[in-house]
Amino acid sequence: MSGVEAKSAARPRVLFQLSGSIAAYKACHVISRLVQAGCEVQTVATRAALEFVGAATLEGLTGRPVESETFAPGAYMNHIHLMKWADIVVLCPATANTINKLASGIGDDLLSTLFLAHDFKKPYLVAPAMNTKMHDHPTTQASIVKLREWGIEVLGSASGALACGDVGVGKLLDPDLLIDEIERRLPERETLGSGATIPPLPGKRSVENSLDILVTAGGTKEPIDAVRSITNTSSGLTGALIAETLSTLGHNVTFLHARDGKRPEAREGGGGIGAVALVPFVTFRDLDEAIRRLLLEREYDAVIHMAAVSDYSIDHLTVNGLQTAVNGETKLDSGESVSISLKKNHKILPRIKEYARRPEMVVVGFKLTVGANPGERRRAVERVSLGTDLIVHNDAEDIDPRLHPATFYADGAEVARTQTKFELAAKLEELIRGRAVHRPAQERP
Ligand SMILES: Cc1cc2nc3c(=O)[nH]c(=O)nc-3n(C[C@H](O)[C@H](O)[C@H](O)COP(=O)(O)O)c2cc1C
Repeated sequence: MSGVEAKSAARPRVLFQLSGSIAAYKACHVISRLVQAGCEVQTVATRAALEFVGAATLEGLTGRPVESETFAPGAYMNHIHLMKWADIVVLCPATANTINKLASGIGDDLLSTLFLAHDFKKPYLVAPAMNTKMHDHPTTQASIVKLREWGIEVLGSASGALACGDVGVGKLLDPDLLIDEIERRLPERETLGSGATIPPLPGKRSVENSLDILVTAGGTKEPIDAVRSITNTSSGLTGALIAETLSTLGHNVTFLHARDGKRPEAREGGGGIGAVALVPFVTFRDLDEAIRRLLLEREYDAVIHMAAVSDYSIDHLTVNGLQTAVNGETKLDSGESVSISLKKNHKILPRIKEYARRPEMVVVGFKLTVGANPGERRRAVERVSLGTDLIVHNDAEDIDPRLHPATFYADGAEVARTQTKFELAAKLEELIRGRAVHRPAQERP
């Protein structure tokens, strides 16, 4: 683009900036979807970004040449004009280097100089993508804090297998989530010159279609004394991702989570129609009581029960031959001879509809098996299907840092399969939405 172009009708104008990360190819997918949805997209790329995606690709996707140089004949003032032109600025993928440059006020290329000319009244969205060590580096962390303090919306990043082979945080968010984040910040849609309206971007639900969903996640802990407990290996990660996805898609989520478990990123109590309320639990009893209380307090449209619940709680201890109750305030001496008597806990899943003020809600259960064959998997699913509308099955042996295969069952039949956690979350939302009994906004509490 040279100089200021006439503002074309009322199409949202997205200044889409790429820096040099291996995730740049995913940004092309986001750009393509924005263009398909009727946005005008102007790309700006650092020199490093153009090592990952070609200028031809970016021009082919947007119909506009990519801008990269500050000193380009005929476009010397782009570092000011492009900022004026844009309705929203997106930096995706954002490298550690560029994030640190922006936070330090360095303007040594077009992208960073544009930031110095940023109009802080406009949304500026940053989607980081980098190796975990680069992400956790004190400079990068300090820069993210600084940018956020200035009102720049630095999104979280996903956890998972990174291109360098490491596993951890720093992965670019899924393109669907990015598209949704961008769409939420686009100016009000208007009618195009042709009379057609810009089609809505896929994903986001309107207020009327948003659902109230309770998600339970993470493992219960049964204390033996002040420092020891019986627990399981659930991290709550998939549950947090599901809660994050549901909230990003506009649903109201109550996230009932293990106190030490993973939580959804940056959305606690957030405003808008995708708020997440966090409620912690520790023991089976806490979890059971919290579910009952929440289901009586609020009319949920769906419950996704994926917490890993202990089948047993501790009934009593026998310490040096004497029966004693568990005392969570003191520590047993390591020299003592201790035996633990367990009591069986009831299953929460088949009681959820009984607990609820609104039993017509959708109940989703999760079943994990370990190394089960197809027949065993099916029987395991059948055993937990009482009182549920959907069951999601995983087998621990199929799960690795890249893949998280899941099979969905309804009424005893397989209805869908997904391969990754992101696909799982998106499919779950779709299946719940298809089954939820719609309530008009005015009937909601
Ligand atoms: C194969 C490869 C992949 C890279 N991926 C990333 C990345 O995902 N995130 C990042 O911050 N830097 C990454 N880098 C390093 C940046 O490209 C490098 O710091 C560069 O100077 C960034 O320039 P820019 O911020 O101006 O685009 C990668 C480098 C290479 C060679």
